[in-house]
Amino acid sequence: MSVSILFVCLGNICRSPAAEAIMKKKVGEQCPWLDCVIDSAGIGPWHVGELPDSRMRRHGARRGYDISSRAWQVTHADIRRYDYVIAMDNDNARALERLVGGGKDKERIRLASEFMTQHPDYTTVPDPYCGDDSDFELALDLIEDACDGIIRQLKGNKL
Ligand code: 4NP
Repeated sequence: MSVSILFVCLGNICRSPAAEAIMKKKVGEQCPWLDCVIDSAGIGPWHVGELPDSRMRRHGARRGYDISSRAWQVTHADIRRYDYVIAMDNDNARALERLVGGGKDKERIRLASEFMTQHPDYTTVPDPYCGDDSDFELALDLIEDACDGIIRQLKGNKL
């Protein structure tokens, strides 16, 4: 079975590149037989071509993740290339919905929090960009939770 997943946040330098790295590592360790394309992109153009934020890289590295993809800005045509486009927060999801308009491509768009099971108080992955160390740690906790949930659904053929 094959599946393609694009994680999306605002800048593609904090949350979504972390989700890409975490998901790649978890799939490699837990279900390497799955044929998964995993990528990340941003809503905005500001950081295109840049490496992820050094704070996210540092916090991720402490947990064993290599967060090192270059930022790029998502378009409607890109969204069509992925089975699932997973937004980090409601603003990201709304921006993606505006990009695709009213058609069927909207069905590809999901929220990361839909897959989380360990953080019932969170319906979003808050943006850590203007935050401190604890905000980056929280983002990683939530993203790990979401990735575990996605993997459970993939293993159960429910995604
Ligand atoms: P991200 O965080 O969406 O998780 O990559 C942000 C990074 C940069 C900006 C906003 C959020 N920015 O405004 O430049």
